[in-house]
Amino acid sequence: MIAVRYFSKSGNTRQIAGAVAEGAGVKAVSITDEPTLSQRADILFLGGAPYANIMAPELKAYAGKLTLELVGKVVLFTTSNWSRRTVLALKKQFREKGITVEEEYFYAHMMRIRSRLDAAKEFGRKFSTIK
Ligand SMILES: Cc1cc2nc3c(=O)[nH]c(=O)nc-3n(C[C@H](O)[C@H](O)[C@H](O)COP(=O)(O)O)c2cc1C
Repeated sequence: MIAVRYFSKSGNTRQIAGAVAEGAGVKAVSITDEPTLSQRADILFLGGAPYANIMAPELKAYAGKLTLELVGKVVLFTTSNWSRRTVLALKKQFREKGITVEEEYFYAHMMRIRSRLDAAKEFGRKFSTIK
């Protein structure tokens, strides 16, 4: 199973999540609508943004609940003004738990969301092959 989950306050990450999900052939779901993964994901696309230099506590808590049993591999995406901190912090958080994280991640600048939608879709397609 492939899952796309995200946290978004003002919609930028939600739009990118939608494009990634389209590429992966699934639906993007906000972690506020589904606070825990309902079934195991072989590939979990997970995205968020930094606010005042840290990721949203909601996303950090969500990531904290994920286990090796629940996810095969995590693929990250983020939007921001400049910071890559959210993906870097998530990478660290997952790797400390032994959860595999794809090295490559998708980034879209907050002012260039629309022009990055095709690339986000392609990213979703590229990383949605279950091995
Ligand atoms: C209160 C607030 C604080 C922010 N702080 C940062 C920051 O520290 N670094 C950064 O690169 N972007 C920062 N941003 C920009 C957001 O990360 C960016 O707009 C992002 O795309 C928001 O995603 P969302 O629309 O999915 O909520 C901030 C935005 C807000 C509203």
